[in-house]
Amino acid sequence: MKVLINKPGCVGHARCNSIAPALYPLDDNGYIASSGFSVPAGQEGLAQRGARACPERVIEVRDTPAELRQVPPRG
Ligand code: F3S
Repeated sequence: MKVLINKPGCVGHARCNSIAPALYPLDDNGYIASSGFSVPAGQEGLAQRGARACPERVIEVRDTPAELRQVPPRG
């Protein structure tokens, strides 16, 4: 499972970071510091929740495990 982040689209809501600070670190200006990463085992749900929390939808999750795909979308 991978996370892809469209860094130029980040406007600094920091909601990703408030849910998963270790996965979604912020830079000194409060914008997302990562442009993507492989999700560590066991942190898939956290990565998903952080991605969904971004109002700008700049965080994309790829290769979602089947058990997470079955969770109905929120909002
Ligand atoms: Fe940026 Fe969205 Fe996080 S706007 S700081 S990627 S919640």
